[in-house]
Amino acid sequence: MDIAEWSDALRLDFDPLDALNRKLIEDLARAQRAGNDDLLLAWGELVAHVTTHFGQEDRWMRTTGHGQSEAHALEHRVVLNLLREGLAQARNGQLAPARQMARELGAWFLRHTQSFDAALALHLRSHTPA
Ligand SMILES: [Fe+2]
Ligand SMILES: [Fe+2]
Repeated sequence: MDIAEWSDALRLDFDPLDALNRKLIEDLARAQRAGNDDLLLAWGELVAHVTTHFGQEDRWMRTTGHGQSEAHALEHRVVLNLLREGLAQARNGQLAPARQMARELGAWFLRHTQSFDAALALHLRSHTPA
């Protein structure tokens, strides 16, 4: 499996979003490298970060009147629910779903960043969040 890595393909040249996205890649890479003993902890940290990350983006969209916010926030909700399900299963000793998501999340995240987050970065450049 390729370990997630920050790259120029993810860079939006908007620091507040780039900082969140870099952190997500770091946490994802840690979860991908984790052995069975560490996966639950690493997955829990990833889910905590993603909760904060998506919550911050959702707030920025609400407070600055971003037009695409419903579709973007819906994608956040769907993915966060899946990650939380994986966490609940990992807590019950079933690591396979979290492992599979750890493999698949990188490709999803690249698409999400290049579409929804890129549009949000463009919007926030001219609508400074409160
Ligand atoms: Fe993001
Ligand atoms: Fe997003």
